[in-house]
Amino acid sequence: MSEIRCIGISTGGGDAPGLNAVIRAAVKCAILKHKWKVIGIPDGFDGLIWPEKSFELTLKHVSGILPRGGTILGTTNRGNPFQYKTIENGQEVVRDISQEVIGNARKLGIDAIITIGGDGSHKIALEMFHKGVNIVGVPKTIDNDLSATDVTFGFDTALTTATDAVDKIHTTAESHHRVMLVEVMGRDAGWIALEAGIAGGAHIILIPEIPFTINRICRYIAQRETYNKNFTIIVVAEGVELPPELKENRRSGAVSNVLGNAISVQSGKEVRVSVLGHIQRGGSPTAYDRILSTRFGVAAVDLVAAGGFGKTVCLRNNRIEPVDIAETIGRMKGVDPHGELVSTARSIGICFGD
Ligand code: F6P
Repeated sequence: MSEIRCIGISTGGGDAPGLNAVIRAAVKCAILKHKWKVIGIPDGFDGLIWPEKSFELTLKHVSGILPRGGTILGTTNRGNPFQYKTIENGQEVVRDISQEVIGNARKLGIDAIITIGGDGSHKIALEMFHKGVNIVGVPKTIDNDLSATDVTFGFDTALTTATDAVDKIHTTAESHHRVMLVEVMGRDAGWIALEAGIAGGAHIILIPEIPFTINRICRYIAQRETYNKNFTIIVVAEGVELPPELKENRRSGAVSNVLGNAISVQSGKEVRVSVLGHIQRGGSPTAYDRILSTRFGVAAVDLVAAGGFGKTVCLRNNRIEPVDIAETIGRMKGVDPHGELVSTARSIGICFGD
């Protein structure tokens, strides 16, 4: 095993509350425990495409960043060195510049890289590992839909933000006797919607894993009125599949606007829609996320020290374990429509529109 003297850290893909807490923990552990130097690689792997952007990360850089949302390193959803897009002679061309990127990492003196990211960043990490780069991953997404890890940091914060929004919508919905839709993030999975719906006392929860109809939603709203509940809160995951008759409206903006319109026409009720969007990705991480992020940051550095390259640190049964990156990519963890959480929600009368 080659001796490690210097590591690089990068954050890629969409940001999530807790990224800075991971960076802080990794920098502290690398410097204080292992006596290594740390290089911050800005904006995903851009800092290796243009190595002059990379800089030494010191204890001073990470001082005070534990409660801060975002990432001090910056991030991007683009910049895959294996499929790098540039314009040449007015034409877009896609090139593999990975060899250049790996060479730049060596020039910077980087012996190993910790990459904090989602599925896309882990795919890049695996390709880099196959090209001989000493790389370790830390999984990240607010959607909590990576099957390799029980929980990703950022989810708890996003859930807390979404729950707070549902709480706030409650009082205004009740005062105005309205149907109110709250659209939350979750591109492929309904975890934020399901858990914020339960935590916020929603009446209907719509998630990608459970097909629903407008008819069923409107019958449920009417049924609530029979016992004088003249308002209804619907939490919608952004990734829901629209019923067939509404599918062609999908392009016309947020999915909850399309649904709200259809519900208003059919139920005759006044409907309002709130799309939470990137508010869920910002803000200070919860205590849970700060602790999980710190555990991930330290575990990633210790994994580098142990030579566990080509692996990512995952939480399994409340223990941090190294898992082969190859095993973690392309495997989505959706809500189980027959699982305990959905059945708990159904037992207390929550409707899934099915
Ligand atoms: O995967 C995390 C996520 O926040 C999704 O919930 C959402 O659909 C997506 O990222 C938004 O990405 P962007 O910031 O690129 O719009």
